[in-house]
This record gives sequence, structure tokens and C-alpha cells, in this order.
Amino acid sequence: MSGHGHGRLLQYPKVPIGFAGHGLGPLVFLNHELAAVENEMNAPKKDLDWGNLGFSYIETELRFSARWRDGVWSEGELVASAEMPVHEGSTVLHYAQSCFEGLKAQTAVNGDILLFRPDLNCARMGRTTQRLLMPQVPEALFMRGIQETVRANAAWVPPYGSGASLYIRPFLVGVGENLGLRPAPEFEFRVFVSPVGPYYKGGGLSLIDLAVVDLDRAAPKGLGAFKAGANYAGGLMATQMAKELGAQEALYLDPAEHRFLEEAGSANIVLKMKDGTIVTPESESILPSVTRRSVMTLAADVLGMKTVARPVEFLKEVADIEEFAACGTAAVISPVGRVRSEDTWHRFYGNGEAIGPVTQQLYDLLTAIQKGEREDPYGWTHAV
Ligand code: PLP
Ligand code: COI
Repeated sequence: MSGHGHGRLLQYPKVPIGFAGHGLGPLVFLNHELAAVENEMNAPKKDLDWGNLGFSYIETELRFSARWRDGVWSEGELVASAEMPVHEGSTVLHYAQSCFEGLKAQTAVNGDILLFRPDLNCARMGRTTQRLLMPQVPEALFMRGIQETVRANAAWVPPYGSGASLYIRPFLVGVGENLGLRPAPEFEFRVFVSPVGPYYKGGGLSLIDLAVVDLDRAAPKGLGAFKAGANYAGGLMATQMAKELGAQEALYLDPAEHRFLEEAGSANIVLKMKDGTIVTPESESILPSVTRRSVMTLAADVLGMKTVARPVEFLKEVADIEEFAACGTAAVISPVGRVRSEDTWHRFYGNGEAIGPVTQQLYDLLTAIQKGEREDPYGWTHAV
């Protein structure tokens, strides 16, 4: 999926709703089948208060499901039920053999529904599945699962200009009868979607606070760099502790020495230093964020700034940080006003009460590309 363009169409076979998984081999569409897909795409939007959505689950009509057994993937199909009956011995239930991805679809200014860099989510899930001894989801299956789910739920994709988006959650879990500690005999790949608003408080771009607490998210050579479900179970308590301190989210330092910045519980960190450079913490135990990678590219290419990925010794360098931002699919780019560490609140741009101009510019650039408002010379967006 390389090349340039603006909202290019995904290059995967489109399977009409209700006709997926029929096992008939290569799909030849009848006119009424194609009409079924187009009808879904043009269905009237749901009656939601789009501008006031939070980040919570809203059930839509259809989701995608495929199963792996004996080395073979099923074709995959859209299913109606949001429930997943699984065997009580499933490795996902006991041993956290589970991984997931998160990306968004947005309505573009021209009405297309755009995905943002889904190929990177696919590649990242591939790395995670290797680490957790799970079968790789083939790229065509991953992309078709996303495409079919989004198309089938087009009525749930927030309208252009609403500030909301359709969050897409592909995930893979180990299922089937098992007891001992070993990879599952079967796996289920699913994709569901939910319309969402901002992950943290407020709408659009609003300031958040982070707090360093006395818990680690990852271990050296552990799962930090992978989008494993286990990382998030382990982080629940840290988030709760951070909230008790008045922050929105935990900020993690490196697990070996607790000196170097890692990331927040659901987002990577990007810093604008007082010397004008954009710095992002480098570490083997942070999740390589698609958003961060994109923001670093935009800072260098469009803003002409010097960008560096390197270890950042937090307390030694905190006075050199002018703007502090958290970035991720859910977080987009969230300016961080204050960070609490060892009983002290460190404040960034505008005494922690204003959004820094570089954070604002990066947010504007990124979201303009995601919504098709700005030329996408990188080929990051893909129309479903
Ligand atoms: N770090 C963690 C721990 C996350 O859960 C996420 C969310 O996906 C990110 C960073 C941001 O990654 P991305 O920009 O790919 O969504
Ligand atoms: C995302 O940004 O996609 C995430 O996975 C964050 C999640 C913990 C809500």
C-alpha cells in the first residue's frame, strides 16, 4: 500500500453485506449484491448528538469475524451479534493471549470515508502476534475486515465537521479448549466499530494533566512495544492512581531506572524543547505510535523543524521542555499542561494553562490530512 495520492481506495475485494463467507471462491457480484453495499454506504446517518460524543462503546449493527484453526483462516464474514461465546479454557481468559489495534475513519470534506494509515496498524499487529505466539492476520484479511465493517456501518460514521470519528477496533484472541500454558488451538479475529468523540475531557484540542505513579507499564524486554491486552490490564491501577492525583492519565518512566520518559497509558509523548527541536522519547518498551510517527514527519517536512528520537531524562531536562503533548489514535494530539512527578507539578507552555503554538499547528496539520482538507502527499489516507 505505497504510493501517493489522496484518499486512495483500498485495494481489497469488497464483499457485499450478507454475502461474505459463502465459500464460493472468488467473488462475482450480482447487480443486486452491489446495490446492497451501495445502499449501506448511502444509508441515512444515525440520529446521534455527534458533537457531544465521548469515548465510549456504542453498539452498531455489524462486525467482522474470522477464525483460525489448524493453520487455516476462515474467509471471514460480517456478523450481527456483539457477543462472542468462547470456551471457558480459552487462553484469552486466563493467560491474556490477546492483542488489538485502534484506528479511526473520518468523513472527508468531499464525503469520502477515510482511514488513516491502516497498513501500519496491520504491520504492528503482525509484530504483536509474533511476540504472543499468535497466528498472523494476513494483510488482505485485516484490511477486508476493516473495510467491510466500516462500509456496513457507514450510517455510524460521524458527519464531516462534527469533530467525532468512527473508532475501529481490530483484535485477535486465543480461544478453544485448553488448560496448560501454551498457545490456543484456535483464534478469533474481530473488527468492531463505535462512533467516538474526544478521549480525554473537553472537545477538540484541550489541555490534560499527566502523573507519574509508582507502577510500571512494561518490563525491560517485556511487552511494552506491543499492543498486547495484558499491558492495559496492568495499567488500570496506574491510571486510577493518576486520576486520584487529579491527572487524566498515568505517565510512565523507564522500568529499569525510572529516569527516562516513556509514554502515557494510551499515548506516546512529543516534546517541543526550548531550543526549537521536536523530541520524542526513544525506548524499547514504548508502543510505536502511528500518530507519533506522522506528527514527527509533519514537524520536519511541513514546519521545517529539527526532529529527534532519543532518551529523555525527565527531571534533568524538564526545565528545557516548552510544550508537552500526548499523541495517539484516541488522544489525537492532546496538549499536556502539567506533569506531576515526586509530589511536584511541572508546568509547560503558558504556565500549563495554554495550548502551545507548535502543538496547535501539528494538531491542525494532522487532522486536516485525516479529514481530506489538506493534500496528502504521503498517501496516508485511504477511502473505504
Ligand atoms: N501508546 C499506547 C500505550 C497506546 O495504547 C496507544 C494507542 O494506540 C498509543 C501509544 C498511540 O498509538 P497510535 O498512534 O498508533 O494509536
Ligand atoms: C488508541 O488510541 O487506539 C488506543 O488503543 C487507546 C486505547 C487504550 C483506548
